[in-house]
Amino acid sequence: MSNWIDFYDFKQSVIYVNARHRDVHYRTIAADIVKYVHSPAAHVLDYGCGEATSADLVAAACGQLVLAEAAPNVRASLTMRYAGHPKIAVITAEQAAALPKRSFNLIVMHSVAQYLSASELERLLAMFHELLKPDGVLVLGDIVPPHFAAPSAALALLRFGAANGFFWAATSGLMRIFMSDYLRLRKTAGLSHYGEAVMLERLGKAGFKAERAKQNVGHNQQRMTFVCRIR
Ligand SMILES: C[S@@+](CC[C@H](N)C(=O)[O-])C[C@H]1O[C@@H](n2cnc3c(N)ncnc32)[C@H](O)[C@@H]1O
Repeated sequence: MSNWIDFYDFKQSVIYVNARHRDVHYRTIAADIVKYVHSPAAHVLDYGCGEATSADLVAAACGQLVLAEAAPNVRASLTMRYAGHPKIAVITAEQAAALPKRSFNLIVMHSVAQYLSASELERLLAMFHELLKPDGVLVLGDIVPPHFAAPSAALALLRFGAANGFFWAATSGLMRIFMSDYLRLRKTAGLSHYGEAVMLERLGKAGFKAERAKQNVGHNQQRMTFVCRIR
């Protein structure tokens, strides 16, 4: 499903309706990730971090933050944004796979699983299992359930816009998303959906003891976050 990487590699992704949306989006996610950082010395990996414009908030709460992003233009902009930041490193997906085992107290993969095939997800879960310290935690966020995913995502965006001063931009942004490659890619590359029980079963097979969090990371509470520990 590498086409999704190209889709997200737009310098100005259509997914964010304007700069305010993008910044509120990443600030919300960063604030939610910080809740899972349990020590100021923690080593944290954010895999598929996207534009991560508020990663400095996560870095301020932990000892080291590694941002792994597969899309080259997004990664280049992250590298520029955080150049010289003492706690933030930006790496490729391949570099993440080559990191030493048991490196991280916390690994977050938010809003990425829907773009992965079942086998890609399985491979990444195995990689995270190796990269986590024995008492580390994997937070798998924004898992999209099988039913009404598109209407509930649109409604959640409009609510998020209304609460954060970009409602009208959200309405026109939704039109732009509908006219973009998003719908075509949904048909050709596919989007992966998981119910709660199915995801818990997959996480169990990957060697995790997992539970669904009360709240999803980010603004869309129809989607799910799973908190996973090594069994
Ligand atoms: C919706 S963005 C999520 C960004 C950020 N984590 C967030 O929550 O806003 C989806 C991300 O998934 C990444 N992605 C898509 N397909 C991927 C794949 N096959 N392997 C690795 N990353 C992928 C994209 O590069 C993009 O950064």
